[in-house]
Amino acid sequence: MIQDRFGRTHNYLRISLTDNCNMRCFYCMPEEDYDFTPVSKLMQAHEIEALAKIFVEEGVDKIRLTGGEPLVRKDAANILLALSKLPVKLTLTTNGTRLHEFVPVLREAGVRSLNISLDTLQADKFQVMTRRNLFDKIYNNIHLLIDHGFHVKVNMVVMKGLNDNEIPDFIAWTKHTPVHVRFIEFMPFSGNRWTSNKVVSLEEILAAIAIKYDYIRLQDAENDTAKGFTVPGHAGTFAIISTMTSPFCSGCNRMRLTADGKMKNCLFSRTETDLLSAFRRGDDVRPLIHQSIQDKAKELGGQFTTDFEHLHAETIDNRSMITIGG
Ligand code: GTP
Ligand code: 5AD
Ligand code: SF4
Repeated sequence: MIQDRFGRTHNYLRISLTDNCNMRCFYCMPEEDYDFTPVSKLMQAHEIEALAKIFVEEGVDKIRLTGGEPLVRKDAANILLALSKLPVKLTLTTNGTRLHEFVPVLREAGVRSLNISLDTLQADKFQVMTRRNLFDKIYNNIHLLIDHGFHVKVNMVVMKGLNDNEIPDFIAWTKHTPVHVRFIEFMPFSGNRWTSNKVVSLEEILAAIAIKYDYIRLQDAENDTAKGFTVPGHAGTFAIISTMTSPFCSGCNRMRLTADGKMKNCLFSRTETDLLSAFRRGDDVRPLIHQSIQDKAKELGGQFTTDFEHLHAETIDNRSMITIGG
């Protein structure tokens, strides 16, 4: 069992397969020119499998593959199939652009639920936000996956003045579509143009929904990052991920492995533990894993609080989102 000083048990590992992506979302990529990590520095498929196996032996029972975009990695299908042999709930967070090529592999790997990022339902706005003309592809893939019986959660990062006016449109989408929409409070990362006045809070999101819809609070699962709701009569549901105004750190069960094999004990952790180098040297990585979790801060990586009005993203010591994987 991997436990921290605050009694939190860590059974959920997020593995980033690559920091590469086929989109260019401004809030994820750093502003300056970004060089993707060369393949030699990335964990190889067999290293991912071996490290994942160690985590499972230490108590992990849920693995999420993330990116950049995990499905741009050439051996993504092989990695999915290899990890599916482990006794874990296997899932992924993807931008959705390549899902139509992966339906049989996802089935074979036993994936039942996946999270897809989509921040707008307007194709022209999508192009501005991502610098790619891929809205239709993603929208169609979301429906394709639902039609194939997968549970789909859509991640919508809400940003003031950009897409907050679309909150009711996303709720309208859930009327006939059994999709679970998650509105996410915008979080600060290195180079992501975050400012406190762009955060749309849980309260504001609910107020925007309440103008048009009645909703009921759902019971959350243990360790959930999201507060769930349902609009009576709708086929889908919605939730809010309120990292900024109402963090859920007290129930945190997450660990992260970056694509270059560094362990992060928190999304906002300042420090990292180089598991890949130790593994390549033939060292036992178990003590490193436990030490990393022993060092975990109580909340938000110890870097900020819910009083974020005067926070500047540059003062947070962390990687950019594309190199963490969310
Ligand atoms: P589920 O397993 O479906 O609950 O997914 P998830 O919420 O763990 O993963 P996903 O990759 O879909 O992330 C959704 C949002 O939650 C993103 O904005 C993530 O950055 C954020 N998120 C994921 N894990 C953490 C975490 O440990 N702490 C915080 N503060 N945010 C997180
Ligand atoms: N704040 C909140 N969520 C973010 N994501 C990416 N950047 C941010 C941010 N700054 C979300 C993406 C993706 C998930 C892994 O993290 O939308 O769905
Ligand atoms: Fe790519 Fe996802 Fe980051 Fe957008 S949010 S640039 S889709 S990794």
